[in-house]
Amino acid sequence: MKQEAWKKVEDAIAASKETTIKQLFEADPERAAKYTASAAGWTLDYSKNRFDANVMKALVKLAEASNLKAEIERMFTGEKINGTENRAVLHTALRNCDPDAKVFVDGKDVMPDVHNVLDKMGEFAQKVRTGEHRGFTGKRIKYVVNIGIGGSDLGPAMATLALAPFSKRSIRNFFVSNVDSTHLAETIREIKADQTLFIVASKTFTTQETMTNAQSARAWLVDQLKDEKAVASHFVAVSTNAEEVKKFGINTDNMFGFWDWVGGRYSLPSAIGLSLMIAIGPANFRMLLRGYWKMDKHFRTAKLDRNLPVILALLGILYVNGYHAESYAVLPYDQYLCRLPAYLQQMDMESNGKSVAKDGTPVSYATGPIEWGEPGTNGQHSFYQLIHQGTHLIPCDFIGFCKTHNPIGDHHDKLMANFFAQTEALAFGKTADQCRADGDPEHLVPFKTFAGNRPTNTLLANELTPETLGSLIALYEHKIFTQGVIWNIYSFDQWGVQLGKVLAKNVLKDITAETPSLKHDASTNALIAHYRKVLGR
Ligand code: F6P
Repeated sequence: MKQEAWKKVEDAIAASKETTIKQLFEADPERAAKYTASAAGWTLDYSKNRFDANVMKALVKLAEASNLKAEIERMFTGEKINGTENRAVLHTALRNCDPDAKVFVDGKDVMPDVHNVLDKMGEFAQKVRTGEHRGFTGKRIKYVVNIGIGGSDLGPAMATLALAPFSKRSIRNFFVSNVDSTHLAETIREIKADQTLFIVASKTFTTQETMTNAQSARAWLVDQLKDEKAVASHFVAVSTNAEEVKKFGINTDNMFGFWDWVGGRYSLPSAIGLSLMIAIGPANFRMLLRGYWKMDKHFRTAKLDRNLPVILALLGILYVNGYHAESYAVLPYDQYLCRLPAYLQQMDMESNGKSVAKDGTPVSYATGPIEWGEPGTNGQHSFYQLIHQGTHLIPCDFIGFCKTHNPIGDHHDKLMANFFAQTEALAFGKTADQCRADGDPEHLVPFKTFAGNRPTNTLLANELTPETLGSLIALYEHKIFTQGVIWNIYSFDQWGVQLGKVLAKNVLKDITAETPSLKHDASTNALIAHYRKVLGR
């Protein structure tokens, strides 16, 4: 992080620290209007945060000092900004809706390949949806099971739920990710082999969980349909690894490709979105891409102080580095977005959960925060108590929509009343005098007082559609990118997940071997021995 520019942010924070959000509003009647910005179908009200004009100015200067504008260009133009893997980072090319766009990686325009794969996905999705693509015995496909994990699961799983109102309800979607056999077994109970399409989604096609689930699903299908040849009609692959796809027994004609410049957690708009496309249809999938693209263009061109992803990123940095907040909550007030927090967890924590700067030295400041959340209003009856009155500072993003897909009675007005009321309560709290005026007995006043001054962002769109979902995802992607630039860390690798994978392989040998070598630490050896004993090994 640029220390000189950060020092100015710290000075500005120190000068304004004692001023509460309430006082900031009292001092400036224009505050709400001043700190509300819109783009790509979304309005962001960020006025209920702990900053004054000087803090914001210093934060924007920090972004400038970090060369953010130049870094954005480097990403969009295919420079190899994923330094430890020497890869370009071009998820923005996947949703570039400009028909004349050219984006180069190693001198090759990637856009024709992007369009070809999208067209191939569209054709296949239509065939499944219309019944032209049938199972081995001639039956229509009624069940689509995506087998993948991490970025090859969370995106399509989140978005398929989110866009259920746009989906073909006669096809049911399932997502199997966990290597725990229960996940596959419970899915198999819901489906019929002769009407099921399995999509094996794995960038590398070597991920242990996915390949184990895929092999077991394949064995089940062959057992059910009594013919190896059935695999061709019931399995397709989404991968960058044609060799491994072939080895698995899937014809590469039934493979939908993508490229090493698409990170797993950024891959929903690639072929990884095939299960989603089958659910909502190619036209809606294109609208999703259009939404992403609108936010991409906004991020690339808008001034930093009116740039939604940049504003979210700077406020995040204010709390992580200025106020030492360890986490933030994403609170979607829409049941369809119930998996959004889990999806963003991987996007944020796998990207910015790093402690080494780009030059390989340890960072001297906090980086990626812990992201968590649940849909409103459920969270209100669970963890909001701590957000309102606990000792931790938890900045929150509230996400809501003016219209519902399911107008029943006054449900939506009540939902949104809670949505608005929570940010009001968090920011402005309730004083001891207000408690007394409400007739609270003196001994209860300390417990019923709300200090307020709890920061929130409010993100509001008219309606949850493929387009607004796309722009919402892009908003968070670019927020995370911006923070990575300012923290000077590599946001697009994930070495931290490797060690566990390697050790799990060694442990598996010891769990299954006739004579285990047990060369681990004393605790791990004892646990493995206990497990073996229970299983009689
Ligand atoms: O968890 C590590 C990771 O590499 C993620 O980044 C990725 O999304 C996931 O595993 C799945 O990888 P793949 O698509 O190669 O199976």
